[in-house]
Amino acid sequence: MKQFSFGKTQGGEPVTAYCIENTNGAQAVILNYGATLQSLKVPNRAGGFTDVVLGYDTIAEYEAGDGYLGATIGRFGNRIAKGSFELNGKRYALAVNNGPNHLHGGAKGFDKYVWGAKVQANTLVLSRLSPDGEEGYPGNLQVSVEYTLENDNSLRIVYRAVCDADTVVNLTNHSYFNLNGGGTVLGHTLTLMADQFSENDENTLPTGRMLSVEGTPFDFRTEKPIGQQIHAPDTQLTRCSGYDHNFVIRGEGPRFFALLASEQSGICMETLTCRPAVQLYTANFLTPRTGKGGIAMQQQDAVCLETQGFPNAPCIPGFPSAVLAAGEEYHSETVYRFKTI
Ligand code: GAL
Repeated sequence: MKQFSFGKTQGGEPVTAYCIENTNGAQAVILNYGATLQSLKVPNRAGGFTDVVLGYDTIAEYEAGDGYLGATIGRFGNRIAKGSFELNGKRYALAVNNGPNHLHGGAKGFDKYVWGAKVQANTLVLSRLSPDGEEGYPGNLQVSVEYTLENDNSLRIVYRAVCDADTVVNLTNHSYFNLNGGGTVLGHTLTLMADQFSENDENTLPTGRMLSVEGTPFDFRTEKPIGQQIHAPDTQLTRCSGYDHNFVIRGEGPRFFALLASEQSGICMETLTCRPAVQLYTANFLTPRTGKGGIAMQQQDAVCLETQGFPNAPCIPGFPSAVLAAGEEYHSETVYRFKTI
């Protein structure tokens, strides 16, 4: 695995980029900063390669950036109401960093730390200890994220964690996929095997109510362009400026749940996970900015498929539990597999 320097953080910590290449010449570049997927070059129909994730060229941009581009999110992905939850009869106060709520682990989430790194053949293992009380969470959490680029052009991400006290955990990756390497994704088609999604309040926080996709713009059970109904006069869409919702993935174990495709590049991405849900996010908050190689990026230039437990689960008794008991192993896997069409 090739390694190169990616500069230093403002605090002077050296950042390393790891490049995993498979037998087809596909390449994934991962930073130890934020355990971030910085670049992912996969074969396109024209016989070349397309970098299918948005990102930046410099560490300074990742440190200043607000969009979590390609980052590992923790300790808890997405929102927790008012940054407050109760566990074993005790109330915990977390950072409130998104309007009235807690988002993506707090003011300094896992995405803003330099992780330890270990190369194991074709796998990069990144790890860190999130100390007791970090951002308000209970328990010392030892966490690792493994990235492997398989020879069938699958990027496999494995998450493991163990804590010395009961805590809540919800780890995900926040890659912004664009199968054309740039420009709008409203023409990408999506199949999403989900018949229910979480209703959001005006701050994109799940209220606890589950809605059926049937007859709504949220029905992707049959392939359709992402942009086909994104501007429909549906309160759930207008209040989030697009899709930014938790969809339920039925079943258990590693299973297929979505197919994203671009006719333009001829690339499609199959996704598999063992998590109970996925956040479909159409980069609604991606304010105009410049990315890798000078590429212009703006709202709806990417789609995120953040595999996850239900956002706000620590506050909604009816949601699948997000509790990781002391000593128990948290283990989950997500696969993004690329093919040409
Ligand atoms: C998503 C979240 C969005 C937004 C985004 C980061 O996971 O659902 O509401 O916060 O991350 O900009």
